[in-house]
Amino acid sequence: MRIGFFDSGIGGLTVLHEAIKVYPHAHYIYYADTKNVPYGTKKKKEISELVLSAAEFLSEKNIDLLVVACNTATSVAIKSLRKKYEFPIIGMEPAVKPAAERSKGKTKQNRILVCATKLTLKEQKLIDLIADLKASDKVDLLSLQKLVRYAEDMKMDSKSVRKYLKRKMETVAWEHYSSVVLGCTHFLYYRSVIQELIPSHIAIIDGNKGTISRMLALLPKKEKLKLKLSFYKSGKKSKTKPYQKFLDFYSSIS
Ligand code: DGL
Repeated sequence: MRIGFFDSGIGGLTVLHEAIKVYPHAHYIYYADTKNVPYGTKKKKEISELVLSAAEFLSEKNIDLLVVACNTATSVAIKSLRKKYEFPIIGMEPAVKPAAERSKGKTKQNRILVCATKLTLKEQKLIDLIADLKASDKVDLLSLQKLVRYAEDMKMDSKSVRKYLKRKMETVAWEHYSSVVLGCTHFLYYRSVIQELIPSHIAIIDGNKGTISRMLALLPKKEKLKLKLSFYKSGKKSKTKPYQKFLDFYSSIS
């Protein structure tokens, strides 16, 4: 099995980490569009072109399956990707569903804060998702766009990151909330910093496990292949080491 993973940068490694943990029998081919990160501040058309060209690159690597480990890319391009390619494509969207289930029936402390990139928050796909869950009256949106750059620069717990997150978290009236949804794969590196800055009754929810269980359902159960990882940086072969550093860091905090 050859499984393509795609993200604008190193955010998708948090999803790859989950995949390797439960299915270490595949050749994972990870594409980070480092040259063009961040996507969340770009125009839809540009993102769509970038995603399609990355998918074309991965399809030439004969992948059997593609995981778009990026909420922003999914919200813009998933439909065109599925139209174009025969192999199954798994996308990601902010995990509002489990968050809504958690606050079901509650009349207090039932609000949900969805944190994502600027673009994901603007897209109709998210608005429709929230409306379908009948949660429009209890969801609030917060962009944490700057975390994408911080993560790319491996600033995981620096003074500036803490200051930025503290400032953002202070704007929220937490006594009304039940959960925070991390709707961008880059944000998962900051789960514990965020947890420290908000009250302990707030659950931090992400979509990684759900994404990987959808992937597992499409894979053969008895695969004997040994794990292999290949990395590409905007179309160029890259060394494993820089990516391994992120995978190791993520496994130390998750
Ligand atoms: N990791 C991405 C996501 O899940 C995109 C971040 C960006 O490039 O702005 O949305």
